This record gives sequence, C-alpha cells and structure tokens, in this order.
Amino acid sequence: MADFAELKIDGKKVECPVIIGTEGEKAFDIGKLRSQSGCITLDPGFANTGSCASAITFLDGEKGILRYRGIPIEQLAEKSTFVETSYLLIHGRLPNHDELDAFSEAFNEHSMIHEDMINFFHAYPSTSHPMAILSAMVCAMSAYYPEFVKERPAQEEIDRIAIQLLSKVRTICAFSYKKSIGEPFVYPRYDLSYVPNFLNMMFSSPTHPYKIVDEVVRALQVLLILHADHEQNCSTSTVRLVGSSHANLYASISAGICALWGPLHGGANQAVIEMLEKIQKDGGNVSKYIAMAKDKNSNFRLMGFGHRVYKNFDPRAKIIKKRADDLLNKLGIHDPLLELAKKMEETALKDEYFIERKLYPNVDFYSGIIYRAIGIPLNMFPVMFAIGRLPGWIAHWKEMIQDPATKIGRPLQIYVGETKKDYTPIEKR
Ligand code: ACO
Repeated sequence: MADFAELKIDGKKVECPVIIGTEGEKAFDIGKLRSQSGCITLDPGFANTGSCASAITFLDGEKGILRYRGIPIEQLAEKSTFVETSYLLIHGRLPNHDELDAFSEAFNEHSMIHEDMINFFHAYPSTSHPMAILSAMVCAMSAYYPEFVKERPAQEEIDRIAIQLLSKVRTICAFSYKKSIGEPFVYPRYDLSYVPNFLNMMFSSPTHPYKIVDEVVRALQVLLILHADHEQNCSTSTVRLVGSSHANLYASISAGICALWGPLHGGANQAVIEMLEKIQKDGGNVSKYIAMAKDKNSNFRLMGFGHRVYKNFDPRAKIIKKRADDLLNKLGIHDPLLELAKKMEETALKDEYFIERKLYPNVDFYSGIIYRAIGIPLNMFPVMFAIGRLPGWIAHWKEMIQDPATKIGRPLQIYVGETKKDYTPIEKR
C-alpha cells in the first residue's frame, strides 16, 4: 500500500500519511488536513474515525474476532479468571504466580471503603438506580483518597488506584444493592476470592448465609471477563476523553459509568429483560414485536440486537448463550424468558430486515438470563457490566495518559445555525 493517501480539494492535493496496525488495519492520518485545506471531516457517531492508536484490544467485526492483548476471548473465557484478565489488560501481559498472588492479595487489602462513605448510601432514596450511586461514589473516592489525585500519577500510583478501584467498586455495588432492599451491609471477607466475595456481600444476610456454588461463580467470572474491554466503545471513549483533560482517574471512570448507563450501551442488558417481560405479558407474540422493530414509525428496537462493529456475530454473545443454557440446566431452572429470547433470535435471523442490516444478538441479549438465574436484580445489570468493564477503562486511561501523542480531546463541528445578525434589545414597555 502507498505511504500516503491523496485527497483533492478545490484542485489542491493533500497528502495524508497511511497508518497500518499490527493486524493490517489501515487508516489515513488527517491531522494536517485542516491546516492544509481548510476542511475538516464529518463523521457523526465517529462511525469511521479512529481516535487513538491502542495496544489493548483487537476486534474484527466482520470475522467476529475479539482478543485482549492478543489472546482470543474464547481462551480467556474458558481458562482465565477476572482478576487475571484484569492484570492482563492493565499490565499488558499475563502475570506469573507471584505477580498474581500479590495482585489478588492487594485486592483484599483494598476491599473496604472508607467508613465515612457509608453515609452516602443512607442519603440516597432507596429507589435510586444503583448506577447513579455508583458513578457518584466513584467520583467521591477522589475526595476520600486525595493522595492519588494527580494530573499525571506515576506508574506505581496508577497501578495502586487500579487495584483500589477494582476492589472497592465491587464493595460499593454490593452495598448499594443492600441499601436498596433495606438489609444491613455485608463487609468483604479476607478468605474469599473476587467473585465469591462479591456474591457473599450481595446475598448473605445475618439470617441466611450465602452458599457459594461453583457453577454460579464460574458463570459470573466468564461474564466479567467477556465485558472487560471492547476498545473504543462509548464509555471507554468517554473515559479517554475526560482523562485527556488530565481529570483524575476516579472522575474519568465516573464519567464512563454514566456513559455506560444508557440503554443503547451497557443499559441494554436491563432493557432486554424488560423487553422480554413485556412481550411475554403481551402473550409472547414474537412476530408482532419483530414487525414493530422493523417499523420506522414505532420507537421499538430489538434490544440486545445490532452492534456498531460486529457485522457477522458477536463472539461474546455466542459464549454467553451457551453459558446461559449450561447454568440453567445445572441449577435446574426453567426460565421462560430464555425460550422467548431464543425464539426472537431465530425469527430475527431469518428475517430479511435483520439479514440486510447485519443485525445479530450482542453481548447483552443473553447476559441478563444468567444474572436472573444468579438472583441479581434487574436494575443491577448495568452495574454488573460496569464491574466487568472497569479493568478496560483503567487500561485505556493508563495508555492514554502515558502516550506522548495524546492531546486533549476536542472534536470540531460544522456550524449550521444562523449567520451573523445584530443584537436587538427588548422594546421598553
Ligand atoms: N432493532 C431494529 N433495528 C435496528 C436495531 C435493532 N436493535 N439496531 C439497528 N437497527 C437498524 C437501524 O434502524 C438502521 O436501519 P436503517 O438503515 O433502515 O436506518 C440500521 O439497523 C443501522 O442501525 P444504526 O442505529 O445506524 O447502527 P449503529 O451502529 O449506530 O447502532 C446500536 C448500534 C446502538 C447497538 C443499535 O444496533 C441498537 O440500538 N441496538 C439495540 C440496543 C443494544 O442492544 N445496545 C447494546 C449494544 S452492545 C453494547 O454496547 C455493550
């Protein structure tokens, strides 16, 4: 391929250097386009715009490939743990035994939240959405741990905040659930590893100790791994954009949590179950809802379907569908929503509208079925996504802040408002 792409604007040639990624992805660098031609590019939703070079996650939407630091997602889902995968994403390689032990040990050290932060939970109405509490609490951590609030923290400091966030966010999420059901908080335990500790904080009570079930732990472990990173999605781009102003890591992650909350992104897992419940209540008429999803005059979309980059299949959805089946079988649960979801998928995949637009189930289509089986309430689904995505956000913030090529994020626009007109004062009464 040529070293430059040539653009011709008003008869003038502009040369844009060609960039090729390690997997052969091609881009041309338009950094000098405005100064050389007076033009900018317009790309709503950044559907065709690379915002950075990144060495964290590779994704090929046509082939359904997803790899963290080069390792296929299928292998990580099969063999890794969430803690190990977090290390991989944040440090760029798999840990050895000692490194993993030290990493896990540090999780235990940082699992408690500052006792004064408990007051926050009491101040929220019990009906609060846990994503509202989570984003506020993560931002508030910058006030409780000011020693880490620096414009450019050193490598060890970033690694320390990473562990602190990964561990404490789990506690905050479980506490916000306990608050919502009016039960006493269950503190983290030193003898439990990451996922069992979370489940215990969520579901143990003074009267009913939680029984750890291996299959449940593994299913949750897999879900967290599958959500751990997804390159420049809406929330990760938000984290990078906020961080590019040198806002601290807590503030940047808090913004990422808010971006994730939307039903077109991490809130879709909750929206899928709400949709399936609605369809079931309405008699389970799949064709009616598929027709509505195709009708541009209805506001209805098939939640959990479609993806900006996956145009063949979402490899995460494939793994989750199988896990959902396995877990429900193991636990002896018959969930009619799983059957309904499968029927919806089958019908949609045969339909010309979905085929033409390459719309397939995404990560959120079946994940809710697993959360339901575990006993996680509906409004906690996006929170589960946030716990999973945290190592990815941290890895991207770290990469962004340490990359000398990073500039403050500042997109441009094409102005389509009124042209110049004079100020006219309001006439005196
Ligand atoms: N149901 C019905 N039609 C759909 C759906 C859907 N779920 N998704 C896309 N389409 C249609 C659009 O109406 C559009 O049709 P048109 O060409 O006739 O106008 C076409 O497919 C392309 O869709 P866009 O919205 O342009 O695709 P985009 O890449 O901008 O959006 C998104 C991707 C937001 C995921 C979209 O598919 C969607 O809203 N899906 C449902 C919500 C969802 O599941 N979100 C989770 C995504 S995964 C994640 O973030 C973790």
